[in-house]
Amino acid sequence: MIIVRDKIDLRNRLHSFRNSRPSGRVGFVPTMGFLHDGHRSLMKAARTENECVVVSLFVNPTQFGPGEDFESYPRDEDRDFAICSNENVDYIFTPAVDVMYPPEPLTTVSVSVLTESLCGRHRPGHFHGVTTIVTKLFNIVQPDNAYFGQKDAQQVLVIKKMVEDLDFPIRVVICPTVREPDGLAMSSRNIRLSPTARKIAPVVYHALKEAQDMVRNGERDVGKILLGARSALEQYDKISVQYLDCRDRSTLKSLVYLDRPALLATAVFLDSVRLIDNVFLEPGEASL
Ligand code: PAJ
Repeated sequence: MIIVRDKIDLRNRLHSFRNSRPSGRVGFVPTMGFLHDGHRSLMKAARTENECVVVSLFVNPTQFGPGEDFESYPRDEDRDFAICSNENVDYIFTPAVDVMYPPEPLTTVSVSVLTESLCGRHRPGHFHGVTTIVTKLFNIVQPDNAYFGQKDAQQVLVIKKMVEDLDFPIRVVICPTVREPDGLAMSSRNIRLSPTARKIAPVVYHALKEAQDMVRNGERDVGKILLGARSALEQYDKISVQYLDCRDRSTLKSLVYLDRPALLATAVFLDSVRLIDNVFLEPGEASL
């Protein structure tokens, strides 16, 4: 495993790899580090499908808003290197901020409509930062396959649309959300939960599962489904719901009646830690 901090250096190494293995595929897993089993699942998927696996570790400042947790985002480079080495990663790309962002860039990439609801609505500029850094990373790595987690459902839709609209010759692979045994979606931020908050945290997933059960039992009124999930979340004073929303699974258009596959997504603050999660709702599944 080789650790690379410079973008030209990485480009040159990947160029040599492609020259030596003309049919060798490059798989890419972009991350912000503080790796957990969710990230590992992406690396494992990349390892099985590619001859060369590149993981980036970069806490991207442009996707954090003012007052968000860029400074306090958890970081542990040595631990991350050990995890990547265990997963047989070939290259870790971990650039400094000034390597990725030389002074005064004038160009950004943004995706409209899909970024206007859910997390995008509550974190203005967030997806703008995500699409710009992912474009830059795609241009540096030029992967054949790129791996993203369903945990960030809106990010998945935004990246897929960007790849389609801008003709990136990259296959986007989506991997399922990896959870703790009690259902809590794995996240780098979970480490910041107090022991009490950690005990409460699985309710986020359980509330979404309750909504899934309502749909399985025939409920199609989105207002009622949301009310059920919201009251499950709000039984805890420590939880403040930032959003809980049910939208068309591919367009993210708002729904009042569940007549198509939908995404039920939420963001909550538990103490001061922001947790997100989502499930699919399948109206076809009614067992009535
Ligand atoms: P980060 O939050 O580090 O996540 C990196 C990748 O891991 C994303 O594709 C995310 O969806 C996936 N992931 C996180 N938790 C997961 C879980 N529990 N199960 C499965 N996959 C999970 O997402 C980002 O970083 C950044 O926005 C990035 C794309 C790197 C751009 O800066």
